Formats: sequence, C-alpha cells, structure tokens
Amino acid sequence: MKAYVLNKVGPADVLKISDVDSRPVGTNEVRVRIESIGLNYAEIQSRKGLYGWAPKRPYIPGMEAFGKIEAIGDGVSDIEIGTPVIVVGQFGCYAEEVVVPVSQILPAFENFSPAENAAFAVQFMTAWVALFEIGRIRASDRVLIQAAAGGVGTAAVQLAKALGCEVFGTASQDSKLDLIGKLGIDHPINYRTTDFVEVIREKTGGEGVDVVLEVVGGEIFRKSLEILNPFGRLVVIGFASLNLNKLNPFSWWKTWQDIPRVKIDAMATASQVVGASHLGYLLKDTERMLRIWNDLSTYTIENRLRPVVGHEFQFEELAEAHRLMESRNSHGKIVVHI
Ligand SMILES: NC(=O)c1ccc[n+]([C@@H]2O[C@H](COP(=O)([O-])OP(=O)(O)OC[C@H]3O[C@@H](n4cnc5c(N)ncnc54)[C@H](OP(=O)(O)O)[C@@H]3O)[C@@H](O)[C@H]2O)c1
Repeated sequence: MKAYVLNKVGPADVLKISDVDSRPVGTNEVRVRIESIGLNYAEIQSRKGLYGWAPKRPYIPGMEAFGKIEAIGDGVSDIEIGTPVIVVGQFGCYAEEVVVPVSQILPAFENFSPAENAAFAVQFMTAWVALFEIGRIRASDRVLIQAAAGGVGTAAVQLAKALGCEVFGTASQDSKLDLIGKLGIDHPINYRTTDFVEVIREKTGGEGVDVVLEVVGGEIFRKSLEILNPFGRLVVIGFASLNLNKLNPFSWWKTWQDIPRVKIDAMATASQVVGASHLGYLLKDTERMLRIWNDLSTYTIENRLRPVVGHEFQFEELAEAHRLMESRNSHGKIVVHI
C-alpha cells in the first residue's frame, strides 16, 4: 500500500509517499480502506518534532480518517466488511489502509459526505470535552473561542451556539471572521488588528467571559485569563503559536515564556478555574470515549451540526495541505482524499 512514512522531522517536504507492506489484522483489530483523511494541527507539530505524543520514528502520521471496513480480526463480531466508519487514533492514517483496534472505530454519519466524516471526530470531540466536560458551559454563559475559524474553532462555535451561549471568537483575518459570522457567532474579533480584551470589555459593559477555549498560548493565553470572569473556566487545549527551534537559544527562551502557566494564589484571588485536556487520554479509556461519543453524536444530530470542510486535497498533495495549515491561511478543516 501507499503511505507517508515520517523518517525525519523537518519542513513539509519531508512528507513523501512510499510503498509499505500491509499489516496483518490481529485479534480485536480491523483493517480500514481509507477514502478521506482529516488533517490536524498536531500533525504539523509532530512533523516538526514538537509534539510529545508522537510515536518513535519512523511511523505513518495521521490521526483520523473515513473509510470502509476491509478485514476483521478474531474477536470482532459486531461489524461487517464494507461498513463505513470513522477511524480515530494517534497515527497511521496518512495511508491507503490502516489496521487499528476495533475500539478506535466509530460509526460514520449517514448524512455526512466522506470529507465531513473525515473532518468530524478529533475536532468535535476535542471541542466537546473542553466546553462541556471541563468548561461546564451553560446556556447563560459568555464563551470566548480563540482561533475560532480553524477546525476545532468552527466545531466549538457550533457547539456553544447550539446551547444558546453568547459567543465571542477570534481569528487573524477578516475573511475568517466572515466564515464564523456565517456560523452564527455573536462577536467575531480580528485579534491581529484589535485588542480582543478591549472589544470584549466594550461589548459586555466592562465585564468579561465565563468560559474560554484557548489554543494559541503566549500573549493570547495571558490576555484570555485577564478577561475571565470570577467563577469562569479557561480550558487550554493547544499551543499553536509555540515554534521551538532546537538550534536557536532565543526560541528556547520564547517557548518557555509562552507556555501557559498560572499562579494558584492569583487564581484563588480571582476565583477562576484553569484546566486543560488532551484527546489522547480518551483512546485509553474506551468506556469514557463511547459515552462522550454518544453524547456528542446525539447533540450533533439533534442540532443538525456539520463540520466545516474548508479545503480539499488529493493524496499526492498532502505536503501542500500541511503548508496551508502551517501558513495560518486555512479555515475550517483540511481534508485529503485518496
Ligand atoms: N488537546 C487536544 O486533544 C487537541 C486536539 C485537537 C487539536 N488541538 C489543538 O487545537 C488547536 C487547533 O487545532 P486544529 O487542528 O483545529 O487547527 P486549526 O485551528 O485549523 O489551525 C491552527 C490555527 O491556529 C491559529 N494560530 C494562532 N497562532 C498561530 C501561529 N503562530 N501559527 C500557526 N497558527 C496559529 C491560526 O488561526 P488564526 O490565524 O485565525 O489565528 C491557525 O489557523 C491547535 O492548537 C491544536 O494543537 C488539541
């Protein structure tokens, strides 16, 4: 089969297609013939050698995909060959096929296209866990979503709006603000050209927000804490702005400065909660993952939500898709078709 094998870290050019032997299907495993791959920012960071959860090289990157069941191992009884499924994992999906434990297979949505099915799981589950499980959002909350036009961002905007929250969202370009405006966001803010803290203070009559979904780090994290109300919850799920260059000592210092940190005594004085989450832990906790998946998929169907597929590429163009995501010019989810 054809696959992208990451042999060394570096720029997008290190992504090259190779021929790889198919892996036999083991007990409690299935093989999925992949049709569409969903890209995630963590894969950019893994390719650069900046992602702690990445496996040891060489490995095939790719955390999620849509495809059909092609082979079933011993112990798997409740799924048939040809069933359309979503694959969620840590790696392996930049390929024509992937073998995974059956626990990493989720049912595809009947009314979604292949691209939408490949675009859903990681980003909607991440946004759901951050907002509902950790952030405990309620309909009366004011919610701030950083990088709101991205994959996780567009999922989070839709989830919070469907509950009835007043939603603020930031992005770095006006064209991205148009997109989140179409998703029904109340207050789109360009955080490159304006100070989002000032804008929020103005729009809330000097108050702040009750929940923040933070994915950027550095100054954006510090200011997010500044705008958080007492009893507010700030959930960190990413650090998109961190760009460590191991050969540049200045970048070590900058990365150290920009990693989100809090002082618990200051949190106590302000009565704020700061939390964080990582989807990787869910893969180890099948029971919790299934409960979250059931809650999320029911909510998605009831509220007629769909992922925003912003860009589509062919398999041979995967390096180009990485460049686009890294450039900060993408919106919604990037999907690569085989
Ligand atoms: N904890 C978890 O389990 C988990 C799971 C999935 C994703 N994440 C995190 O969630 C975030 C979003 O992931 P995603 O896959 O949906 O990506 P994405 O939001 O589609 O793309 C990343 C976005 O980050 C923003 N950004 C801000 N500063 C940046 C910088 N210096 N360089 C590049 N981008 C910057 C950009 O939007 P603007 O240009 O509009 O600022 C960019 O479009 C990432 O931080 C990712 O690591 C965490």
